[in-house]
Amino acid sequence: MVLAGIMIVFAIAIRTTFAYTLHHQVSQRLQNLVKAGSLELEIEDGRLEIDQEDLVRDFQSLQWYDPAGQLVGTQGQPVSNLPLDPQQLVRLQTHANLQSITVPVKDSNTGQLIGFVRANESLEAVNQTLKQLDWGLGGGAILAIVLSGIGGTWLTLKAMRPIEQSMRQLQQFTADASHELRSPLTAIKTNATVAQKYPEGMRPTDAEKFHAILSAADQMTALTASLLQLARLDPSLEQHQTPTNLLHTLEELSQHYQHQAQAQGITLTTQLAEPTWVLGHEDQLRQVFANLLDNALRYTPDGGTVTIRSTRVGPSILIQVQDTGIGIKAEHREKIFDRFWQADTSRSYQIEGCGLGLAIARRIVQLHQGNIAVDSEWTQGSCLSVQLPLYEHSP
Ligand SMILES: Nc1ncnc2c1ncn2[C@@H]1O[C@H](COP(=O)(O)OP(=O)(O)OP(=O)(O)O)[C@@H](O)[C@H]1O
Ligand SMILES: [Mg+2]
Repeated sequence: MVLAGIMIVFAIAIRTTFAYTLHHQVSQRLQNLVKAGSLELEIEDGRLEIDQEDLVRDFQSLQWYDPAGQLVGTQGQPVSNLPLDPQQLVRLQTHANLQSITVPVKDSNTGQLIGFVRANESLEAVNQTLKQLDWGLGGGAILAIVLSGIGGTWLTLKAMRPIEQSMRQLQQFTADASHELRSPLTAIKTNATVAQKYPEGMRPTDAEKFHAILSAADQMTALTASLLQLARLDPSLEQHQTPTNLLHTLEELSQHYQHQAQAQGITLTTQLAEPTWVLGHEDQLRQVFANLLDNALRYTPDGGTVTIRSTRVGPSILIQVQDTGIGIKAEHREKIFDRFWQADTSRSYQIEGCGLGLAIARRIVQLHQGNIAVDSEWTQGSCLSVQLPLYEHSP
């Protein structure tokens, strides 16, 4: 686009300069011609005489008039039928694709008006040249844009290769590191659990420390599991997708979370409408909605409601998890999908979670050619919507 803009400005500048120069040359030629033509007109024995010396070139003509404005002689083609207008004398006039200049002729001795002479030049040649220039500039610009587009794409792809490679290495490193962290974490957890089992001879403060170690180890286990999963959700990896009925998944999840909801005094309801078949990875999709429900229950105070709703929207299914919870501020709405982002970081140690849930959910939804969005009113509640293409040939 930038290149196209530059080319257009460049082409306009060249064309304007070229057209100006061509017209200027025509007017220069006409000035010379009319001057030569006026020398041809003279009075001999009281009669107008024209010395018909050949003065005109191709596309040029000369016309002589007597003082009364009657045409008395011509030379060359094409001629102008523009009326003689004393107001327009000595001025360049453009008419019917002709450029003309008309001047009065006076007797060199007496200074008496003896007639007029008009020089014309057809603009056909100029227009022809400009047309050729337009084609040349237009064709050249299009060719330059196409070639630079191809060249630009090639260069970008070449430049992207090392970046893609380092991204892949980084992803591999995250996956390896999270994987390797699992064994030492298990060892820490096992030892802390064993130590907690035998509190004899342990100071009360030590028991608290073991509890803190265990809870931190749990959090780290969840974090490494999430990181490992995020690293493995690579679009370049082949995903095995099968027809999945989301109705079952959502009903199962709703039952699973019913207990937690009741414990919190939250009403969890479902409003599910067929069709709900999509092509995808059932475990991954379950995880998306589990995280949405988990968030809804986590960020909704006691006595609130959480609703899972599914509706058909054209060729897609829209699944919404709506809560009457704390809501999300407008400026945070897009950030909730970022990795490690949590609205209130100070609470992150009391409230479980590491801020990866929605990042994983978004990646999964994108891998299913879907879209995830948030709509929320601060302090009033939030609604997270997942739109997925429907699988029309439901079995
Ligand atoms: N329904 C909701 N209501 C209010 N805030 C929400 C809601 N869902 C998400 N958020 C905000 O978005 C942040 C990110 O959510 P996300 O699910 O990614 O992480 P998390 O729930 O904190 O941790 P994790 O899912 O990894 O256990 C949350 O910390 C919270 O601040
Ligand atoms: Mg979450």
